[in-house]
Amino acid sequence: MNKDIERIAFTADEIHEKVKEIATQLNEHYKGEEVIFVCVLKGSLPFYADLVREVDFPVTFDMVCVSSYGSSATSSGTLKIKLDSGVSYENKHVLIIEDILDTGNTLYNLIDHFKDKKPKSMKLCCLLDKSSRRLRDIEADFCGFEIPDEFVVGYGLDYAEKYRELPYIGVLKPEVYNK
Ligand code: PRP
Repeated sequence: MNKDIERIAFTADEIHEKVKEIATQLNEHYKGEEVIFVCVLKGSLPFYADLVREVDFPVTFDMVCVSSYGSSATSSGTLKIKLDSGVSYENKHVLIIEDILDTGNTLYNLIDHFKDKKPKSMKLCCLLDKSSRRLRDIEADFCGFEIPDEFVVGYGLDYAEKYRELPYIGVLKPEVYNK
């Protein structure tokens, strides 16, 4: 285990099982229809890559890169789209893939942005849900694990761009981010 990790929240095996569970729900929901999977970079990459290989309907890949600005140190109410591939969502099923739903600011603003693209449907799929920190009225349609308000890293999630490559999700030692 990485020396900066206090404890493992979810092992690689537990994550893989959960990804398969979510894929089963998606298979039942979309029933063979084509869906645009939108990867919200960068944290969602491992979840996205694993999930697309578990579903049994046709997937179109898309990705978006966003950043938030505002008065607070955490994510804010204003979203800047840094990368928009230009893929047309008109009359298509769109599934937004996120690693973590926290305050909800990112997805709230992203959904607002995507609505202009006139998709046939738009749903949210998040691996982790930290609902105790929610500031927006937003819920995932498909969700992996509900988690407490702890600083988790790994499987795409970072602290200062580190730990994304860990195959598990771990709770970061407080001394790492309180330095
Ligand atoms: C994380 C995560 C979500 C967002 C969730 O991204 O991937 O996009 O924060 O937080 P919110 O619900 O409070 O808006 P981050 O901005 O850290 O970028 P990253 O994916 O590149 O790590």
